[in-house]
Amino acid sequence: KKVQIISCPFSGGQARGGVELGPDHVLEHGLEEQLASLDWTLSPPLSLSFSEPASDPDEGKLKRPLYVGTSTKKVADTVASALSAGSFPLTIGGDHSLAIGTVSGVFSQHPDACLLWIDAHADINTPQSTPSGNIHGCPVSFLMGLADPCPPQFAWVKPYLKANKLAYIGLRDVDPGEREILKQNGIAAYSMHHVDKYGIGKVVEMALERVNPGSKSPIHLSLDIDALDPVHAPATGTPVRGGLSLREACYICEALAETGNLVAMDIMECNPALGADELSVKATIAAACSVVRCAMGETLL
Ligand code: ARG
Ligand code: MN
Ligand code: MN
Ligand code: MN
Repeated sequence: KKVQIISCPFSGGQARGGVELGPDHVLEHGLEEQLASLDWTLSPPLSLSFSEPASDPDEGKLKRPLYVGTSTKKVADTVASALSAGSFPLTIGGDHSLAIGTVSGVFSQHPDACLLWIDAHADINTPQSTPSGNIHGCPVSFLMGLADPCPPQFAWVKPYLKANKLAYIGLRDVDPGEREILKQNGIAAYSMHHVDKYGIGKVVEMALERVNPGSKSPIHLSLDIDALDPVHAPATGTPVRGGLSLREACYICEALAETGNLVAMDIMECNPALGADELSVKATIAAACSVVRCAMGETLL
């Protein structure tokens, strides 16, 4: 088993500086050695470079559409080639708009895949519904083809993602327009309320049953570190109280690893420039490495 780490120091999908420093911090924490000790063969990490266009006018409400559109295209191509080379693409962000690229890349190689989106947020705003204009709040709508008309900067994005192949876990800050979209499309969405009510074990079971009933589909895991409670992952741009415990997040990853169907993972939104002090940054980065290890085969016994 081979892993291709893809570092994406990109912050164009939102306004807070520092999220572009996430990949280096995660790697400096020793993730490569940790994966090697889980018997992964590592290719040298790829670090993508993103250059901001000189002119990038808003597209309606959307901010920096050209920068995000061209950068995510690059990510899509990189993820697709890693998969076609037989590697597991592990993409480290950077902000969550990058998932426009990672998910596009995965579905280009595995059109039958399903997507588990672990996040405090649904990130399914359309160009019309976005309250912020930050594209990291919109990636899922682009991937589903819900943006109508599709902004020209994202014309390359194919609407691969079908509503019945997407499940969320960890939601607790969903915008009014997003609620409507989730409901209208019948998307499997497990909020923190469901985690409290059923327990994380049952929630993961229900989520997988919805998106992968025959357990045959390849699985892409896109994990926003803000899914975790800010107690465990404070250094992130849009923290929301009342989130997953570190163990609940690890459990999700362990359960997905156990299926044997995981083909790609994103770990997004670690922002080492935020967080009150060095300790909170360390905790956030350590939590990110923990969930990645759990998804990639680490077990407790
Ligand atoms: N829903 C809000 C928005 O559309 C926040 C999105 C936060 N997304 C994230 N990837 N952290 O702006
Ligand atoms: Mn989020
Ligand atoms: Mn909100
Ligand atoms: Mn997100």
